Amino acid sequence: MSTGFAGIGAMGSALAGAMVRKGLLRAEELLFLEPSDERAEAFRREIGARRAKDPADLAAHSRVLFLAVKPQHLPGLLAELKPHLGPQTLLVSIAAGVSIQKIQALLAPAANPVARAMPNTPARVGAGVSAIAFSANVAAADRERVGALFAAAGRSLVVDEKLMNAVTAVSGSGPAYVFLFIEALADAGVRQGLPRDIAQTLALETVRGAAELVRDSGLHPAVLKDQVTSPGGTTIAALEALEAGGLRSALFRAVAAATKRAEELG
Ligand SMILES: NC(=O)c1ccc[n+]([C@@H]2O[C@H](COP(=O)([O-])OP(=O)(O)OC[C@H]3O[C@@H](n4cnc5c(N)ncnc54)[C@H](OP(=O)(O)O)[C@@H]3O)[C@@H](O)[C@H]2O)c1
Repeated sequence: MSTGFAGIGAMGSALAGAMVRKGLLRAEELLFLEPSDERAEAFRREIGARRAKDPADLAAHSRVLFLAVKPQHLPGLLAELKPHLGPQTLLVSIAAGVSIQKIQALLAPAANPVARAMPNTPARVGAGVSAIAFSANVAAADRERVGALFAAAGRSLVVDEKLMNAVTAVSGSGPAYVFLFIEALADAGVRQGLPRDIAQTLALETVRGAAELVRDSGLHPAVLKDQVTSPGGTTIAALEALEAGGLRSALFRAVAAATKRAEELG
């Protein structure tokens, strides 16, 4: 029995690719279903996994089946998979906003074990973070296995499902906020006369370095911020402007808007 992927798009290919590259899965243990011939061929060539002929083939040969299609395509996909699923097949959905209850309702009367996860695109470089929630009937060994599979693409952690929309707003969509921050910091440097390539490198390495310093030092970001903030210095001048510009409250509003949208999508 294989590990199956329905949908080998941006997220599906990042996760499945990381699982094979990190040795959690052998290529021959990976089976995928993807309507786009171009995407399927590129993934097959890169990873060497087998392309499923149809939903029946994927469902019948998958012990763990990742659902990596857009939320709006999930009901149709589950309707196609349902008649061919074994009762023990563990379904792992990464669809934003779609609850475990909704997936179970779409599968009824079948009562397969279901996991719902929110990964993020840095999974492509093995630096992702995935939050996972499980239905009550997921066995302990399967919970561990799913955690390990997502950890192949970075880090994974288990959360209560009621937190999943907020997770989506922080780490699922979060990379886009950081990309915007890097772009804006680089532009701000160019505004001060820095050549574009230098501004881009400084902005990127500053964000990467700061994140690693928080992780590796174990210190609170506020403590590390104060270590860069000397009295009457350059940093406090910039922090004052950021406070006046409402950086913190803008992030609060952004995460609240994304959480609300995740609820609507569900
Ligand atoms: N991208 C992110 O940052 C991110 C982060 C966390 C979670 N997610 C979740 O991950 C899921 C996939 O997002 P994505 O960004 O990877 O989208 P994507 O790049 O569009 O990938 C989805 C893939 O599934 C294919 N597909 C559509 N219907 C299918 C079916 N019935 N069977 C098999 N494959 C099918 C699509 O093919 P066509 O394009 O030909 O339709 C596409 O290749 C979404 O539910 C999203 O909420 C995404």
